[in-house]
Amino acid sequence: KNKKIIITIDGWSSCGKSTVAKELANALGYVYVDSGAMYRAITLYFLRNHIDWTHKKAVKEALENISLEFIYNPQSEKSEMYLNSENVEYVIRDLVIAEKVSEIAAIKEVREFAVAQQQKMGEKRGIVMDGRDIGTIVFPDAELKIFMTADNAVRVERRFQELYEKNPNITLEEVKNNLELRDYIDSNREISPLRKADNAIILDNTQLTPKEQFQKALKMAHEAIEHA
Ligand code: CDP
Ligand code: CDP
Repeated sequence: KNKKIIITIDGWSSCGKSTVAKELANALGYVYVDSGAMYRAITLYFLRNHIDWTHKKAVKEALENISLEFIYNPQSEKSEMYLNSENVEYVIRDLVIAEKVSEIAAIKEVREFAVAQQQKMGEKRGIVMDGRDIGTIVFPDAELKIFMTADNAVRVERRFQELYEKNPNITLEEVKNNLELRDYIDSNREISPLRKADNAIILDNTQLTPKEQFQKALKMAHEAIEHA
């Protein structure tokens, strides 16, 4: 059987979601969408343009001027985030963005803007999307839902290594505080909080290498496609 399915990967910050999602998509010939990149790009726009996001009207007006697009880069083997035709894939990973993104992602209008586009991208199925509310809100009827977890200390260390390579001034403490803050806001917000969907399979990768976690996820995907 060759039916194309939807695979959702949700979980806490920095627990390996995008690593697995990208590899799964490439192995299956599916599209990979990093939904977090969209919230990060919106945050970049708000910061650059000094948008007062505590005001509904300012948020609405700003969103009207934002165009988000994913364009595949064969070099990185993934779709990269474009904000109004500018490649922002790398700048949005900055801690400055991470410090504000959860606050902005909690705004109703921002979520409606992003979710509508995400659902459109999944219309033809054959998609792997990672985020926080993908299995619960964006694609509640997805054939395979994975909920990723890893011990806090391990997640902090992994994200610290990534950020430290780009900026040696960064401290472990800053990264730890940011992950804790985001996880708190993301799982306690009113609209679409981070939750494990009832029918999601938990994948704890604390003790797994990226290769091992990929093999487990691929097995789940083959089984889901088989039963679709
Ligand atoms: O990769 P990392 O775990 O650091 O986070 P991300 O996936 O890039 O997401 C950044 C932020 O966007 C999250 O902390 C959430 O506040 C928000 N987000 C969301 O609200 N809903 C999603 N589906 C994806 C991300
Ligand atoms: O997308 P998310 O924020 O959940 O995490 P990620 O960006 O895929 O992974 C965060 C970091 O952890 C990356 O540097 C991965 O290479 C690393 N990682 C790891 O060391 N071992 C794993 N089993 C999974 C991810």
